[in-house]
Amino acid sequence: AAATKGTYDTFMLKEIDEQPAVLRRISQHYLANNSSINVPAELLQLMAQADRFYFVAAGTSYHASLVGKRLFEKYTKKPVEVGVASEFGYHWPLLSQKPFFIFLSQSGETADSRQVLVEAKKRGLSTLVLTNVVNSTLAREADFHLPLLAGPEIAVASTKAYTAQIAVEAVLAKALGVQLQERLAVEWDLQQQLSLAAVGIDRVLAEKDKFAALTKEYLTDQEHAFYLGRGIDYDVSLEAALKLKEISYVHTEGFAAGELKHGTIALIEDRVPAIFFITEKLTASHTRGNVQEVKARGGNVVVVSTEETKGSGDQFVLPTLTPELMPLLTGVVGQLIAYFSTLQRGLNVDQPRNLAKSVTVE
Ligand code: G6P
Repeated sequence: AAATKGTYDTFMLKEIDEQPAVLRRISQHYLANNSSINVPAELLQLMAQADRFYFVAAGTSYHASLVGKRLFEKYTKKPVEVGVASEFGYHWPLLSQKPFFIFLSQSGETADSRQVLVEAKKRGLSTLVLTNVVNSTLAREADFHLPLLAGPEIAVASTKAYTAQIAVEAVLAKALGVQLQERLAVEWDLQQQLSLAAVGIDRVLAEKDKFAALTKEYLTDQEHAFYLGRGIDYDVSLEAALKLKEISYVHTEGFAAGELKHGTIALIEDRVPAIFFITEKLTASHTRGNVQEVKARGGNVVVVSTEETKGSGDQFVLPTLTPELMPLLTGVVGQLIAYFSTLQRGLNVDQPRNLAKSVTVE
C-alpha cells in the first residue's frame, strides 16, 4: 500500500514520529529469539573471515556508515573503512587481503553506490546491502541484503532510515562480535539498548514545543549555522548539518569541535548559532572549552548533552545509551531542529528544491 500522511501535514514529521516504532520493529525482527540473532549464518561466517570491512554509501547513509564503523570496530575488533560512494568508485583504496563490502542505501537505487557494487562484484568480493527497499537494484545485485524495516520513507530528507541503519548496524556488529566470541559483544544487551533508545526518542519527541521555540529564537534570520562535536558527536554533527541545510537552506556545517580553533572560529560572530553535541565523556571537558570560546565571540550556543555529561544551562539533556548509539537520540534532535526551522521559514519540508529522494545518475 502507498504511504499516506494520515493526520500529518508533512511526511517528514510523520516519519520522525515513527522512529520509536521502527526501533521496536528492528528489535523484534532481529533480536526476539534469545538464542540466536536473526542474521543468516552463512553471512556471519563469511564476515568472520574478513580482515577489513568497507562501508560504502552516499548522503545520510554515508553518515550512518560513520557510526557503523565505530560500532563494528568496538564490538568485532575488525577494522573498517568508510567511503563516500562517488569518491570510492573512481579512487579505490588499496584493499586488504580479505575485504568485505557493506553498502548502505535507503532506496537501494543510488547510482554512485551501485557503481561500486558492480566493480566489487567484478573483482569477486563479498557484498552485503542494508536497505529499506528489499526488491531494489542493490538488494538484488549484492550477495546478501538485510532489511532496514523502516517502512516507506517519502520525505526527501532521510530521518527514520538513518535511525534504522544505525540500529541494524548495531545488530550486525553484535551478531558478528558474538560469532567471534568478543567479550564486549557477548555482554552487550542490545535489545535493552534499543528499547531504551525508543523510550529516549519518545522523550525527545515530547519536547517538540521546546524545539520550535528554540529554532524560532536562534535560527530565524540566520544564514549560517554550525554543529560541533567530537567522536560520535562529530559523526552526528555532519548528519544534523546536512538535515538543516538541505531543507531550510541555512548554510550549515558540521565540524569536529577540536577543529574550531584551526579555522572555523573565524566564522563565529554575533548571534551565529552553534549547536554542540556533548554526549562523549572522554572529550566533554574539551568541548565545553569550545562552547566558552564560541560564547566569548557572541555566538548563540545550544548544548545537547546526556545525564552523564550534562552541565548547567544545557538546553537538552538526553538519556544515556551505549555511547555509539547516542546518534539514535542526537540524530532526532537534528531532525527536529531542521524540521521546525524549515516550517518557520515557510518552505516545503518534504520537497526541498533541487533534491531528489534517490539519485539514479552518477
Ligand atoms: C539522496 C537523498 C538523500 C540520501 C542519498 C542516499 O541524495 O536525497 O536523503 O541520503 O540520496 O540515498 P540512499 O537511498 O542510497 O540511502
